[in-house]
Amino acid sequence: MKTRVGFLGAGRIARALAGGLLRGEKDSWELVASTRTRESGEDFGKAIPQARLYPEERNPDLVRESQIIFLCVKPQEVCGILRQIRPATADKWIISVAAGISLATMAAELAPSARILRAMPNLPSLLGRGVTPYCLGPGWGADDRERAKKLLQRFGEAVEVDEKLFPLLTVLVGCGPAYFCAFLAPLFRFAVESGLPAPEARRMLLSTFSGTADLLQQTNLDPVEAVRESRTPGGITHAALTILEEREWQETLRRALDAAWNRAKTLEEV
Ligand SMILES: NC(=O)c1ccc[n+]([C@@H]2O[C@H](COP(=O)([O-])OP(=O)(O)OC[C@H]3O[C@@H](n4cnc5c(N)ncnc54)[C@H](OP(=O)(O)O)[C@@H]3O)[C@@H](O)[C@H]2O)c1
Repeated sequence: MKTRVGFLGAGRIARALAGGLLRGEKDSWELVASTRTRESGEDFGKAIPQARLYPEERNPDLVRESQIIFLCVKPQEVCGILRQIRPATADKWIISVAAGISLATMAAELAPSARILRAMPNLPSLLGRGVTPYCLGPGWGADDRERAKKLLQRFGEAVEVDEKLFPLLTVLVGCGPAYFCAFLAPLFRFAVESGLPAPEARRMLLSTFSGTADLLQQTNLDPVEAVRESRTPGGITHAALTILEEREWQETLRRALDAAWNRAKTLEEV
């Protein structure tokens, strides 16, 4: 029998999660998603053609018709939606991926028998290569806890954590793909401007980075140690790293991470 899964919000993370669910098991799921505007629904429909699409007025129908509901809207939209869907949430699994929205906030707005889960997935969930820290609200039985973990493992690694860690994990896991892409973009531009055809630049740079990540993971090599090993005084790597250090890039990155963490903590307190 198919599991009916609803997505409240059909933007970037909903597309990644829906795609991750369907990977290799297209027939196990029946998907429905809702959006505020028609355009947003059309983008989701192109990526996930088998999903039914509802306008926001039908959010309560989406919840009624689904066994598992992913809440994938911006944090400022969450409270309004929780109030809108409350009468339909008895015994449903509600999985929120919204930054800054606590289990307590959700529990206060939803039916007491709703099972609430808070998660912070990331975009590689689409390929089953993501990381999803999560925590559970009250009332989950042992079997359902296990089923919930298995569901999240379809997106990659699922790690149960203390809810206090969510602001930090939002900065590291949720935003992590954006830092990587921000770092990659100038390297890619440099490669193309310096004469490498774009498709080859893309293929070789991505393989270099994914290979390096695998190397660190599989050999347990410390990144600081890896940098030291690849840096010969007077050599080519040294020339590049020296410029980065003169520009205090590590301090700049640290300031960026602190700013993101402060923003995530502020959202949590609202
Ligand atoms: N993007 C990530 O990598 C990522 C990772 C982890 C967690 N998150 C969290 O996921 C949430 C969504 O982020 P996102 O990047 O996917 O945002 P997004 O691309 O802007 O998508 C938000 C979606 O919510 C829809 N929406 C807004 N109000 C709605 C309503 N009342 N009823 C139904 N749908 C409604 C939007 O429709 P319209 O476009 O028509 O307004 C849009 O489809 C955020 O809370 C974020 O913290 C994101």
